[in-house]
Amino acid sequence: MNAVLAPMAVVVLLLLLQVVCCVGQLGPTPLFPPEWPANFQVEFHEAAWYFFSITTTGKMYYDAAHNRSRTDRVDGKGNRYCGTIYPLRNTACTQLVVDGMRYIFFPEHKYCCSCCSAEAGCGILRRDWLHGAQYLGQEEVEGQMCNKWKQAGLQNNYFWETLDGVPLQIYMEPNEKITFRTETYAEEEINASLFELPPWGCEKACTGLCSVPGARGIS
Ligand SMILES: *[C@@H]1O[C@H](CO)[C@@H](O)[C@H](O)[C@H]1NC(C)=O
Ligand SMILES: *[C@@H]1O[C@H](CO)[C@@H](O)[C@H](O)[C@H]1NC(C)=O
Repeated sequence: MNAVLAPMAVVVLLLLLQVVCCVGQLGPTPLFPPEWPANFQVEFHEAAWYFFSITTTGKMYYDAAHNRSRTDRVDGKGNRYCGTIYPLRNTACTQLVVDGMRYIFFPEHKYCCSCCSAEAGCGILRRDWLHGAQYLGQEEVEGQMCNKWKQAGLQNNYFWETLDGVPLQIYMEPNEKITFRTETYAEEEINASLFELPPWGCEKACTGLCSVPGARGIS
């Protein structure tokens, strides 16, 4: 090696060492985030923390092909919308998105109101809501190995999906976690009667966080 190339070789060697040193720190090989299926229904359990912590169960119906969705909660107290319309009340609550509007209703009180419109950010969760999400590798949740992504929104949202593509968990940082009961997951057609409004008059505007744009999240 001649006198000019020798220092070059040292530089190349240093560069190579730098590459080798850092490969281990790059994290998992990115995995493209999934689109949500056009249509599914699944039962879930949920934990939320505010001034108090609350757990509930429910069922979600997702019908993106018709721009509609429905989420039934056995107790809506821990939900940002339901829990601020009937504050501090343990009562069932349904969110229904149909015809470009999110409605909230309370079967035990026979009360229904208009939360806000799809244009104002209250439409269904988009099938591509994970677009651009950061892949965080694999992790076991509820005994099942999952792929995990992080999507920034009003807050950070974390999403876990089983290795065969079934949604398992959403964590809305810092205070709400929905876990889907994967054994109840089905992509069959949803009975259209579930998307009908109740007969209690749903035109009046909801109170609570529905009218606060900054409070809109993904559930
Ligand atoms: C669903 O809503 C989106 C946005 O509001 C709209 O662009 C789309 O055409 C709608 N699709 C159907 C099937 O109504
Ligand atoms: C849909 O649900 C309604 C009300 O529960 C029921 O009367 C009807 O038979 C159901 N339709 C189908 C196709 O399952």
